[in-house]
Amino acid sequence: MSKSNIVLVGFMGTGKSTVGKELSNRLGWTFTDTDTLIEVQQGMPISEIFRLHGEAAFRKAESDVIETVLKGERQIISTGGGAVLAEQNRTNMLQGGFVVALSASAETIIQRVSQDQTRPLVQGNVEERVKTLLQTRKHAYDFAELIIDTTQHPVSAIAELIMEHM
Ligand code: S3P
Repeated sequence: MSKSNIVLVGFMGTGKSTVGKELSNRLGWTFTDTDTLIEVQQGMPISEIFRLHGEAAFRKAESDVIETVLKGERQIISTGGGAVLAEQNRTNMLQGGFVVALSASAETIIQRVSQDQTRPLVQGNVEERVKTLLQTRKHAYDFAELIIDTTQHPVSAIAELIMEHM
């Protein structure tokens, strides 16, 4: 166990929050969700930030939050699906934690994302939006130190696998 934080990255609906909370319970480390921090800081839901200020403003807030959070330790940090798109964020993540990418099949993602209609990037035809974004971000998570398909394993097994590798 050499790194002081675990950073969970991955496309929307790959199970970052679920796995993060499981790891938090097992390790006794704080669970931190960067989307939630941004919402608290800005006093509004992510969808409102996108609507009122645009995606670029959200990305700026996201990068700032990631940089700040990574200064702490003993945290499981769950990040938004697009956080990895900025090189600076990827660099900060690798410096400040053990970076784990979670993946899932397109079908699983579509099913999970459909249950929460608040995400601004997947409004309208969810299936089409998810498939297009998945294609665009095909290699976006490859920089992670460990990649786990959450469709194949129960949450407990995923947490154990991460703890073995960290
Ligand atoms: C986004 C994913 C969301 C949230 C925002 C943008 C993305 O987080 O940060 O809606 O660009 O993939 P989750 O991955 O937790 O849904």
